[in-house]
Amino acid sequence: MTQSDNKDRVVIFDTTLRDGEQSPGATMTHDEKLEIAELLDDMGVDIIEAGFPIASEGDFRAVSEIAKRTKNSVICGLARANFGDIDRCWEAVRNSERPRIHTFIGTSPLHRAIPNLDQDQMADRIHETVTHARNLCDNIQWSPMDATRTEHDYLCRVVEIAIKAGATTINIPDTVGYTAPVESADLIRMLIEKVPGADDIIFATHCHNDLGMATANSLAAVEGGARQIECTINGLGERAGNTALEEVVMALKVRGDIMPYFTGIDTTKIMNISRRVASVSGFPVQFNKAIVGKNAFAHESGIHQDGMLKNAETFEIMRPEDVGLSETNLVMGKHSGRAALRSKLEDLGYVLADNQLKDVFVRFKELADRKKEVYDEDLIALMRAGEDAENDHITLKSLRVVCGTGEPQTAEMTLVIGGKEVSTTAAGDGPVDATFNAVKALYGHKARLQLYQVHAVTEGTDAQATVSVRMEENGNIATGQSADTDTVVASAKAYLNALNRLYVRRGRLGEDQREVNWKDVS
Ligand code: KIV
Ligand code: ZN
Repeated sequence: MTQSDNKDRVVIFDTTLRDGEQSPGATMTHDEKLEIAELLDDMGVDIIEAGFPIASEGDFRAVSEIAKRTKNSVICGLARANFGDIDRCWEAVRNSERPRIHTFIGTSPLHRAIPNLDQDQMADRIHETVTHARNLCDNIQWSPMDATRTEHDYLCRVVEIAIKAGATTINIPDTVGYTAPVESADLIRMLIEKVPGADDIIFATHCHNDLGMATANSLAAVEGGARQIECTINGLGERAGNTALEEVVMALKVRGDIMPYFTGIDTTKIMNISRRVASVSGFPVQFNKAIVGKNAFAHESGIHQDGMLKNAETFEIMRPEDVGLSETNLVMGKHSGRAALRSKLEDLGYVLADNQLKDVFVRFKELADRKKEVYDEDLIALMRAGEDAENDHITLKSLRVVCGTGEPQTAEMTLVIGGKEVSTTAAGDGPVDATFNAVKALYGHKARLQLYQVHAVTEGTDAQATVSVRMEENGNIATGQSADTDTVVASAKAYLNALNRLYVRRGRLGEDQREVNWKDVS
């Protein structure tokens, strides 16, 4: 498709697995990346940016595997402006039915200074690298990184060079989230008007959310003539994140009256993939997040509820089922059977083999014994907590915490580490601190705690607590999560989950260790 083909169709380019995964702490395992790619393909994403193949062996393996398996979407890999990166990227994507190479270089004055290239030298580099990529693959995307802070005449010049060298999509990144809607539209309009050959290619918009304008800037770019939006599920991404896929897609769907464009996304798949991405990335969705937040369709105030009962359109501009939210939040309890659990989990996007269901059913019954009503959120937390458990190097056998006023809190703990049982008692400033100290005493790690977060999954004093823990060890970051009706137990398990993930990463050093430091990219 070129700019002049179906002029109202907006191509959705998802970069959850590349720009999203690049966000510190959002690292996903190989299997998790394959699973997310399958869900993206299934929901109708046109292009999946599956990773940055030169960055690590792990990235390369994931992009290659996704390229081989994906049925419909174009599979794209990222490469800097050098032959080594581009060749490696091609190796990873070439087995896709529809491969794409995405190569980029920073073109703004600040970015040109990093590799110390003047305007002419950079223009030559762009010509050489895009030509090289096009000799390998006929679907080439080129990005002038930090385009929104690049001089307009220079931007026009390099975009023209990239088009002449064979780029089929030109992406205009707002790398630092600096632009605003009017400027975003004008920039694309200006490029289409001024650059020879612009009508034969697609312009893309790639916005970051530093000023909270990523969605507005992306939609404005479409008004200006862009026909590809780059985005991530839940807006995952470095700093304030990228444009959220669910927001631009639903905005185009709901406001087709003033934005007459359409995408190929099956919007009923949004909730499911949002939950999966939140779960595997360890980045929970904020409650009041547009489209996918827990409260996005909740009407609690009396006036709202009354209006909703009379006519849902009073306060609702889209229906929950349009984004895949089941109308009834069927409550499960200790009398619910295995078939009901299976069907409920399928609604939530978890399709389980019989042996997996057996294990989850046992954990569900344990939870239902402690908690009268088990909601969707409880089941999601339960699934998430069990995700890594079977391969864990360290597991919690028992924990007893003694709390009292005016005396130090102590945690008596038994762990199983590599099959061996070890026990200790440790004191701390509060029950969670005592618990973490006990883990440290038994498993002398050097990881640093970066984040500790507790959320109640549902309402009520018997609600499960979901705990997220982010740890850092020699530049490797891992996020651990767990849920339990006992906050201290959930904390201990989340802490161990993060340590287990670091353990796996350490074992794969050389494979998953990033060879490219994103901060030095030029
Ligand atoms: O934000 C950015 O500039 C990028 C480029 C690599 C496209 O992610
Ligand atoms: Zn980006």
